[in-house]
Amino acid sequence: MLNYMSGFGNTFVTEAVPGAVPVGRNSPQKVAHGLYAEQLSGTAFTAPRSENRRSWLYRIRPAAMHGSFSPFDGAPGFHNDFGDGPVTPEQLRWDPLPLPRGPADWVEGLFTMAGNGGPAALTGVGIHLYAANRDMRGRFFYDADAELLIVPQQGRLRLCTELGVLEVEPREIALVPRGIRFRVELPDGQARGYACENFGAQLRLPDLGPIGSNGLAATRDFLYPVAAYEEDEGDFELVGKFQGHLWRAGIGHSPLDVVGWHGNYAPCKYDLRRFNAIGSISFDHPDPSIFLVLTSPSDTPGVGNLDFAIFPPRILAMQDTFRPPWFHRNIASEFMGLVHGEYDAKAEGFAPGGASLHNCMTGHGPDAATFEKASKADLSKPDVIADTMAIMFETRAVIRPTVQALDAAHRQRDYQACWAGLRKHFKPA
Ligand SMILES: [Fe+2]
Repeated sequence: MLNYMSGFGNTFVTEAVPGAVPVGRNSPQKVAHGLYAEQLSGTAFTAPRSENRRSWLYRIRPAAMHGSFSPFDGAPGFHNDFGDGPVTPEQLRWDPLPLPRGPADWVEGLFTMAGNGGPAALTGVGIHLYAANRDMRGRFFYDADAELLIVPQQGRLRLCTELGVLEVEPREIALVPRGIRFRVELPDGQARGYACENFGAQLRLPDLGPIGSNGLAATRDFLYPVAAYEEDEGDFELVGKFQGHLWRAGIGHSPLDVVGWHGNYAPCKYDLRRFNAIGSISFDHPDPSIFLVLTSPSDTPGVGNLDFAIFPPRILAMQDTFRPPWFHRNIASEFMGLVHGEYDAKAEGFAPGGASLHNCMTGHGPDAATFEKASKADLSKPDVIADTMAIMFETRAVIRPTVQALDAAHRQRDYQACWAGLRKHFKPA
């Protein structure tokens, strides 16, 4: 049983060996136990206090100690090459990413689906799937380009990070800040899920406005690891993602050697089942922004660089209302996944582990079978949608599918047919 500390964005103090974290100053002349002091800044030094994120790490060796970097070619499907040519406005959908045929760890198993912006511009997202079947052994990874939002769909992940260990299972998520080094183990032998790189401002909890002081994701449900360190030496490898490409360097020790730390820049996890879903108790639906878990703001007030929303279990009791999600077109672009169960806007074809992409102003909504059923449904009783957990990465910029995603064998080339059966009902008086 792992220990966690609670509270989104809180400042924590944690040490695996008593006395590792100095009191009263960050960088004393000599740190206790022969440790090195190192600051890890996740925001500009001068960012406003409410935004400022940094941690002080007390470690066996500084992060500067490793060999020279050279290009890493072990994960060719993982990149930020979203292209700059034409983008199809077509509705797109994919079956689940197949589990790997040969051995693949979490980094090797990453497959880039889509994205926008990039690490050089400090805005946009990279959207990836992963499918892996072996632990990262002697390999450590960090992403200098982005904060990582990891959404397991099948199999647990054990994220051994510089700042401690997080274990996440399907219907939980993990957030790993930019730059944090970590290794992924697969307690269930294999794993599959979604990973979103956020190149923009760090994800945070949304304001609640008229909802009040409770509701949606609660601050206290975000869990942070306590300090844990490895004192291993060997012929290891540090893989870094830097400006859209992967690099490797030899390293003679585990970089997960932080014995104590304090600060507010740290990985965390959250159980999506703890999300307090808010909805209509009269008629119609609120917009899906009501299901916002985390948001990365852009430089335009109220417009997200990345909004992470979920469609969790909920009860629909609205009257004189088409209860499934309505037909719509948005200025925002939507990449969806399904973690568990069924999604109430689609009768079939959107399987757990699958994905869909509906870009700016592309029409979409319930398929023909769902429309027919919901149009005749008995509204005198509430619909209890118990067995579901869909996710959405929504961005203000168009999400550009990669060539490999468009060409992939698991792409559903007949996706549009799900609307072909919508019949004409128009009967003028
Ligand atoms: Fe949508």
